[in-house]
Amino acid sequence: MGKASARAANAGIQTEQAIALVRQENDRFSMESGRARRAFVLTFGCQQNEADSEKIAGMAKAMGYEIAATPEGADLIVVNTCAVREHAEKKALSTVGQYKHLKAQNPDLVIAMCGCMVSQQHRAEEIKRRYPYVNFVFGTAALGAFPALLWEWMNTRRRIFRAAEAETAIAEGLPVRRESGYRAWVSIMYGCNNFCSYCIVPYVRGRERSREPEPILAEIRELVAAGYRDITLLGQNVNSYGKGTKAGWDFADLLAEADKIEGDFLLRFMTSHPKDAGKKLIDVMAASRHIAHQFHLPLQSGSNAILAKMNRHYTAEKYLETLDYLREKMPDVTVTSDIIVGFPGETEEDFEETMKMIERAQFDMIFSFIYSPRKGTPAAAMEDQVPPEVTHARFDRLLELQNAIGAEKNRELVGKTLRVLCDGESKNDKATVSGRTEGNKLVFWRGDPAARGNFVRVKITSAEAFALQGELLND
Ligand code: 5AD
Ligand code: SF4
Repeated sequence: MGKASARAANAGIQTEQAIALVRQENDRFSMESGRARRAFVLTFGCQQNEADSEKIAGMAKAMGYEIAATPEGADLIVVNTCAVREHAEKKALSTVGQYKHLKAQNPDLVIAMCGCMVSQQHRAEEIKRRYPYVNFVFGTAALGAFPALLWEWMNTRRRIFRAAEAETAIAEGLPVRRESGYRAWVSIMYGCNNFCSYCIVPYVRGRERSREPEPILAEIRELVAAGYRDITLLGQNVNSYGKGTKAGWDFADLLAEADKIEGDFLLRFMTSHPKDAGKKLIDVMAASRHIAHQFHLPLQSGSNAILAKMNRHYTAEKYLETLDYLREKMPDVTVTSDIIVGFPGETEEDFEETMKMIERAQFDMIFSFIYSPRKGTPAAAMEDQVPPEVTHARFDRLLELQNAIGAEKNRELVGKTLRVLCDGESKNDKATVSGRTEGNKLVFWRGDPAARGNFVRVKITSAEAFALQGELLND
């Protein structure tokens, strides 16, 4: 672990030192009790949170914990929370509520909460008041402080709240325990400066800061050498990567350099912001060897009036220009998007604009969300909040339209042979194997689950809105 990580902890003692101290204590426990302590990490929310949780699990492992698959019998539970919509917050709180009985069974159980929800002052206070069995809380920027906080709790048994602090240094080199042996996340930047008016992220993840390219490239090289086949670069707005770095590269430069790495792997990235997704990036993708022809480009609304109120800084026309260029350069590109339904002041006409854009854009898939007011964001204070019954009716219409488009787009693939990364046995049907295409589409076929983690060739035989069926080609 480098010096940077140690400094980032900034919690009295350094990350590395804290890991060693907790490890000693856990080794002593193992000697006395004949078993290792177990840690359970639960993740809500987006890929960034999943990536953070892999670091939490990595630190826990380095501290001598066995990583458990369930909370029952765990000695340490860490709940990594999301704040992007109210539903995610409610789920995290009710789950932590259920852990109360585990604490009653095992008074030595340590419960910690981290992530976006607890990075809001009002939620941290709520936890302080209403969840007395939560022992310590750390915000997104204090990830590297986790071992030091755990050590502090073990020694003082005083509750610790390090929620809303702006520790902006990036913790480089924290240990990682990856969930998969062939798909990996690589965070390239943290935070967001865009302040879309509905979004809590800039408040809970702080200002945008980018990692230097060298450690990112080194991480990708290591992953490829270790057999990783599908690597996703993560940031809230990857298109503004590089600002404030010593190297001064932009995102297209970083991708072009990563593409030079030899090996059999796919590179993906998310999320792009339509105001910054430029031709240079698309040109680099089209000319690349490893960058998947897949693009997630959140539209949010098709109405220029709503886009302006959302503070998105692009128009529907500008969005379509980017989309058209993308398809011109990569006719096989898979494009997905995010849509928010029921943003304050959304009229029937505004919604019709969104429907028209969906029709025109022909996305392979969309993630649609019902607008959820987030405390402290400008949109939450706007007048004309749309009544739930209106929003729900619009949401259903949107889904119906997109399902038909998605199914049609998928049907275009019938008869084609695609390269698919196999994920092994399908959860519901043991005789079936599943995997993901370069466009990240789900495919099922009959075959050997032992191909898990490898690319196979599958001929598509039928298609629905959310999945493809195919036959394995043995060549
Ligand atoms: N309400 C509903 N959806 C939201 N998103 C972000 N904030 C909100 C909110 N307050 C959606 C956006 C974003 C995706 C990750 O979540 O569509 O792109
Ligand atoms: Fe939120 Fe907008 Fe930043 Fe995305 S770009 S994280 S929607 S503020």
